[in-house]
Amino acid sequence: MTSRLALALLASVLPLSSQNQMPGPVYTADGALLPPQSYREWMFVGSNLDMGYSEAKAPKRSAFHNIYIQREAYREYAATGRFPDRTILVMEQVSAGTNASINKRGKFEDEFLGIEVALKDESRFPEKWAYFNFIGEGGKALPAARAQPKERCWACHNEHGAADNVFVQFYPVLRAARPR
Ligand code: HEC
Repeated sequence: MTSRLALALLASVLPLSSQNQMPGPVYTADGALLPPQSYREWMFVGSNLDMGYSEAKAPKRSAFHNIYIQREAYREYAATGRFPDRTILVMEQVSAGTNASINKRGKFEDEFLGIEVALKDESRFPEKWAYFNFIGEGGKALPAARAQPKERCWACHNEHGAADNVFVQFYPVLRAARPR
């Protein structure tokens, strides 16, 4: 048996999470997270428009949230209902445009505003999941971001996310992957 065939056989019996092709988090030497590079080639699981999480604050600007996840993490979630270690969800924000080209009503995705990231890294974060905002002052893209304080992001995700801190209830592709 060639060693390549042996490897292919081995890969077919190992669980997905122990295979190493999944794009993972990349940190700077002092522990900040770099923005994931090729997330638009990942799995697109849903888009939300102008969702607000508190009654008080009106949205600054009409915007879509586009959510992406690594394909490998998606497959494991679909098979087991669990997000594997090193799962990354990218939430891309894009302003909602209207009145351009031939558009007369409705909204399209206009200007890229930036990304926020949810990352499961079990050996690094005591709560397993950590949250990162790559949108700086005045909307400037940050080259790296530190994990947000637990009460700022994690707490709400942990309490209200329908599966393992993730708001699968709002993502049609993840809902369909695990019908309840
Ligand atoms: C009060 C609740 C609440 C807080 C606080 C909160 N989020 Fe979320 N988050 C949500 C909801 C609801 C969604 C679902 C989709 C959306 O907003 O489009 C979401 C979705 C996300 C997603 C997409 C992946 C997922 O886990 O579903 C990321 C990434 C994210 N939030 C990052 C953050 C960051 C970073 C912070 C802190 C700066 C934060 N969130 C604080 C409620 C919250």
